[in-house]
Amino acid sequence: LKIHAIIGMLNFVGSWMSLEKYLIRGGNPLYGEVEVSGAKNAVVAILSATLLANGVCRIENIPNIADVTTSLDILDNLGAVVKRINKNTVEVDSRPVASHTVPHDLARKMRASYYFMGALLSRFGTAKVAMPGGCNFGVRPIDKHLKGFMALGAAVAPMENGMIELKADRLVGNSVYLEASVGATVNVMLAAVKARGVTVIENAAKEPHVVDLANFLNSMGADIRGAGTDVIKIRGVDRLYGTTYSVIPDQIEAGTFMAAAVATGGDVLVRNVIPKHLESITAKLLEMGAEVEEYDDYVRVCRRGPILHCNVKTMPHPGFPTDMQPQIAVLLAMAEGTSIITESIFDNRFQYMDELRRMGADVLVDGKVAVIQGGKPLTAAPVKAVDLRAGAALVIAGLAAKGTTEVEDIHHIERGYECIVDKLRRLGADIELVDQTEQVLRTAL
Ligand code: EPU
Repeated sequence: LKIHAIIGMLNFVGSWMSLEKYLIRGGNPLYGEVEVSGAKNAVVAILSATLLANGVCRIENIPNIADVTTSLDILDNLGAVVKRINKNTVEVDSRPVASHTVPHDLARKMRASYYFMGALLSRFGTAKVAMPGGCNFGVRPIDKHLKGFMALGAAVAPMENGMIELKADRLVGNSVYLEASVGATVNVMLAAVKARGVTVIENAAKEPHVVDLANFLNSMGADIRGAGTDVIKIRGVDRLYGTTYSVIPDQIEAGTFMAAAVATGGDVLVRNVIPKHLESITAKLLEMGAEVEEYDDYVRVCRRGPILHCNVKTMPHPGFPTDMQPQIAVLLAMAEGTSIITESIFDNRFQYMDELRRMGADVLVDGKVAVIQGGKPLTAAPVKAVDLRAGAALVIAGLAAKGTTEVEDIHHIERGYECIVDKLRRLGADIELVDQTEQVLRTAL
């Protein structure tokens, strides 16, 4: 019993101490079909919004990933009744919630814990949420979120003990100009949905998950128009109700499998997608010489010839997503010729290039620009996933490289990709999850 308890503890600690890793023997082209899960960045917003329902919310097509577990743990910690119906469906009854505090240990596990600020403020007129965690791309301030809350009448207390504290006697609709921030747009929507009067968000983010949250809130009885355009109008309502809702497919997971198909010279049907959400990714892959066929809810991606070099600039939706930047960099490292990537969303999203260089990529980074001299074959190496999408990119590189690549720090990857190992194996990849926890323990004993 004792040894099981220790193993259990080490399993938990292990994922944070690099005791779990992926072993990838590269070189197999991917063939077959893969089913894309629900969108991470939509579901984390939707789960926090269940706090606003005066009834049970049943959410379907949720991805079985660590960020969902964290969101559900936060809801549970606040006092909601959370029922896992199956691995992709959950029911949340937030009526019993009485707490408005999200503590450090939970908030630090992901970026999206900042959505509990908007949801709790909307529900209680007060919120106390620890600073969020998530991927490290340099400084990730939350000033735009706070500016949005203040425009609706909330006061922000000076930060104490790492906690952000918000208070409003009554939230009142207003006009809010945001500089295209996904998180701030979602947070202002959450805060405004039950505010008195009309809120107009100008220069709103247009990402598919922003639209999905608006659709979810509308299905609860909210009055939100214009999501997916620059201007979102929210007429506050007094009450929101329980609902049943299915989360949209994950645009970035789909793009990751598309890139993996191209990297390995394979032929893959990527199922359960909204092709419209993939347009900028599809356009780039076509420019790089891949073949992409679009159908109603799936795309077929294959590559027969060489990968062609090109330039990529990340932009807010409908531009090329920053969350696909590392995966596309792997393809450009394989392409003959010089490519330039300009990262225009985050200040420091090239940290993974050090890892990619270990695999033979020739990359020069200067601030927000990376110059890739392609055409050198990727070779296997031990590498670390420095963040979620960087980790996915290293998996793709490992699938394409000769030899056995070891990817460590995979907890980053498992925050956002459901069953990535199983899905890739079904496509013919030689990838396995190796857990050294027990081995380390037995050596220690
Ligand atoms: N920014 C500020 N102040 C703020 C908020 C943002 O200066 O108050 C800056 C950011 O530092 C960044 C830019 O504005 O330079 C845009 O950031 P945005 O707010 O749009 O990003 P986010 O809400 O922090 C979400 C996704 C990210 C995705 C970005 C951009 C979630 C939970 N996260 O982050 O997803 O990269 O939008 O599309 O939705 C991922 O899934 O791997 C991921 C990192």
